[in-house]
Amino acid sequence: MEKKRVGILISGRGSNMQALIRAAEKPEYPAQIVGVISNRADAEGLVFAERAGIPTSVIPVKQFADRIAADRAMTSQFEAWEVDIICLAGFMRVLTPEFTTHWLGRSINIHPSLLPKFKGLDTHQRALEAGENKHGCTVHFVVPELDAGPIIGQAEVPVLDDDDAPTLAARVLVEEHKLYPEALRKLALGQVSLA
Ligand code: GAR
Repeated sequence: MEKKRVGILISGRGSNMQALIRAAEKPEYPAQIVGVISNRADAEGLVFAERAGIPTSVIPVKQFADRIAADRAMTSQFEAWEVDIICLAGFMRVLTPEFTTHWLGRSINIHPSLLPKFKGLDTHQRALEAGENKHGCTVHFVVPELDAGPIIGQAEVPVLDDDDAPTLAARVLVEEHKLYPEALRKLALGQVSLA
């Protein structure tokens, strides 16, 4: 089996990136992580990736003329790594339509809500304020519109009476770390595609 070559985009902690790296260490997993790009030099996840022996690159927008130029630099780096699939893992910057169109069907994102509910930021607080009794996470294809691409998989958690945003986020994160490697496995095996 030829493993798919996967690049990851992060902005911070990188715990979902870690879950993908750990999954990909298993011989039978159909994908390998070949590089990690962060838009922030201080992203904690970079340290883990480097310790795991994975090439990393920092591509901050402020070093470029605009977001289009920064996204082109990211595409160039991913293409230099011969990436087949891009996983956004806590990447907190909006991508340009040029980038998302170039990687259409080949890039996926994890979002901490049961999409289409709660696109954007502060999803856990907003779920609490809306009185939801269940919440969760979604892996979906990346399309130009934010948090709007076709869904590959979702995982649900209950919202408990005494939850605040951090306790709810922690419960969701446990599910994210299981859902994301499973979704990437399906894409790598060609079991899901963007029609
Ligand atoms: C995760 O909860 C992820 O779903 C979310 O940020 C967190 C990153 O954590 N992503 C978004 O909100 C994307 N808009 P991590 O860096 O530890 O994976």
